[in-house]
Amino acid sequence: MEVIIAETYEQMGKSAAQMVAQVINTKPNAVLGMATGSTPLALYRELVRMHREEGLDFSQVTTFNLDEYVGLPVTHPQSYHYFMHENFFKHVNIPAQHIYIPSGTTSNYEAFCAWFEQRILDCGGIDLQILGIGSDGHIAFNEPTSSLSSRTRLKTLAKQTIDDNARFFDKREDVPIYAITMGVGTILEARKLLLVANGKNKAAAVAAMIEGPVTGMITASALQLHPSATVFIDKDASGELKMIDYYNWIQQMKPGAPKH
Ligand code: PGA
Repeated sequence: MEVIIAETYEQMGKSAAQMVAQVINTKPNAVLGMATGSTPLALYRELVRMHREEGLDFSQVTTFNLDEYVGLPVTHPQSYHYFMHENFFKHVNIPAQHIYIPSGTTSNYEAFCAWFEQRILDCGGIDLQILGIGSDGHIAFNEPTSSLSSRTRLKTLAKQTIDDNARFFDKREDVPIYAITMGVGTILEARKLLLVANGKNKAAAVAAMIEGPVTGMITASALQLHPSATVFIDKDASGELKMIDYYNWIQQMKPGAPKH
């Protein structure tokens, strides 16, 4: 796992965006895995800027989102459909028919999840999956004790996640209890993983993900099993890392390192 520590949240977003842009520039028809939440906003802002000012072209890109709340219509301001449209899709040139987001309103979740998994395969698999991390160590809505080989499925949210996300709703009771989410196994099949995290309230989860044991209790720790996972964090989120000097040293020495 590569760990890149930025001075600020905005800088974290900028360096993560460089990695996304590199994938698109190398493979214009790249398949990107998208994440919601407050963390990736700086990353999306920078990608939108690159599209507007530097001509970063998304016209052949396909996207798959990680998850969606069950029961919220796509027009609900807290639905992930709405979030993605407002914060990213409406500002770039991804064709609407290339955008896949799990449905939170299907009448048959099992069939939908199987179809979603098949669509990912039919599109050639995900080249780069963007991820956030929950304060309980989850990736997507793979809550503690999720199987590390889980696939896209319906999931009951942990109380901690409901508490964390209550800030976006009028009252805690309004937070959906169920979500549809890609599984850890689905995520691990992406060719590259990019996880962003910021803020002190993520420091413990970030340390457990990078330096703790691989465990279903912290589903983000499954990134340790992936051959190409990069973690972009800000200073605050790096506060509990034991090996921080090593990560900084690697970044410092990198320009002179042998090319592979
Ligand atoms: P956040 O959510 O970016 O809003 O903190 C992260 C997550 O739960 O994955």
